[in-house]
Amino acid sequence: MLKDDVLGEAVVEINYDELIPNNVDLANDARLKKALERWQPKYLDWWNEAGPEETRDMDVYLRTAVGVDPKGWARFGHVKMPDYRWGILLAPKEEGRVIPFGKHKGEPVWQEVPGEYRALLRRLIVVQGDTEPASVEQQRYLSKTAPSLYDMRNLFQVNVEEGRHLWAMVYLLVKYFGRDGREEAEELLERRSAHEDKPRILGAFNEETPDWLAFFMFTFFTDRDGKMQLASLAQSGFDPLSRSCRFMLTEEAHHMFVGETGVGRVILRTCEAMKNAGITDANDIEAVRALDVIDLPTLQKRVNFHYGVTLDLFGSEVSTNGATAFNAGIKGRYRENKLEDDHVLTNDTYKVSRVVNSKIVEEEEPALNAINGRLLDDYIKDAGAGVGRWNTLIKKIGINFEITLPNKGFNRKIGEFSDDFITPEGDVINEELWTARQDEWLCTENDARYIQSLMKPCLEKGKYAGWIAAPRVGINKQHSDFEYVKID
Ligand SMILES: [Fe+2]
Ligand SMILES: [Fe+2]
Repeated sequence: MLKDDVLGEAVVEINYDELIPNNVDLANDARLKKALERWQPKYLDWWNEAGPEETRDMDVYLRTAVGVDPKGWARFGHVKMPDYRWGILLAPKEEGRVIPFGKHKGEPVWQEVPGEYRALLRRLIVVQGDTEPASVEQQRYLSKTAPSLYDMRNLFQVNVEEGRHLWAMVYLLVKYFGRDGREEAEELLERRSAHEDKPRILGAFNEETPDWLAFFMFTFFTDRDGKMQLASLAQSGFDPLSRSCRFMLTEEAHHMFVGETGVGRVILRTCEAMKNAGITDANDIEAVRALDVIDLPTLQKRVNFHYGVTLDLFGSEVSTNGATAFNAGIKGRYRENKLEDDHVLTNDTYKVSRVVNSKIVEEEEPALNAINGRLLDDYIKDAGAGVGRWNTLIKKIGINFEITLPNKGFNRKIGEFSDDFITPEGDVINEELWTARQDEWLCTENDARYIQSLMKPCLEKGKYAGWIAAPRVGINKQHSDFEYVKID
């Protein structure tokens, strides 16, 4: 029990065992409990200052993680977001688990931080942790223009779960990294997305999320980076990190869903409106915009943008840090346990793309050094499958248009292509030409203004803004005019 006598005579008692749903035996870990009790009010301050704006009194139909049983880990109900129970949940321990890769392969997993990898592990956890509150900050103002109560609820669901992911990383920091960990936990609440002096660590998390199309693209592309990173960390030989990430992945699946179905519903609405109006040329932007829907070429430009900034999150394709983390058994590959090789990789190579003599070519690199490059390629495949499902929607309605992922060298700031100028088709051009043509590939101010002009809130039960289709099914099988958010 925390005794808080700030209020003078009245002693307010908060039971943190109940406040923080957990399966880490918080009640019997006095040191951890004390550290989290200190951090929790600061977390709430951060939420109120930087989280979803003016939403304190709303009752939101949210999923709360309360356990890790695959059949019933969450409960649904209307809650006010500041009262949400951000818990600490680890996937169940696997008895006899061994380190699956790297030079310690086959040794028992670590339950404590190995001294020699302490700095490396701390950095990985901090970088992952930093992305979680960052996206909440980026999405702070979106509820004002929500296209429906359903979408508003999904936004808030993603937000509270990113908050819980921050808790998951903070748990690891304060439990396993002593004083340094506690300091890092504080700093995670001090940095701010796009802040001049104390920005978030990674570039994509300092970009704006100015409208709902950007939100759906972000959850499709950038949360998918999150999924890939978590999947690699879920392989970790540091068992508490592995178990944390494995449980986070169950929540992350919903974020992918929000992104894929969000963009899918935009596409569906546009195609249906075009069909009803008898417009067959998807590139006739003026005609399509006259219908107050988002034309597909502009949607493609948004794909181009979010894809490029997200690919940069994977870091340099060839990286000694990547090699060190793999070799040490700290961060594995995507689905490491399903791969059929020696999981040590000292004698393997991997093909990395780069520009040589103004052409993109593939060159063999030692596989260990190319760990980041490989994760990037796995991401590209995963994202491509989702884009394929969008194209199926377009085809079904009979519109002649295909959404494509640009070449992986397009608009990159980090890694092999950071000094090159590459078109979405993969042609290497010079800077002058690239600058002259970039409006063909990326949203102009005019495009952004058009999208913004559609962003009017639509908050009637069961209704949707004109630029987006209704979802096929409700959350938790709720009926179509369910009140997902109660706004007074
Ligand atoms: Fe997350
Ligand atoms: Fe996420």
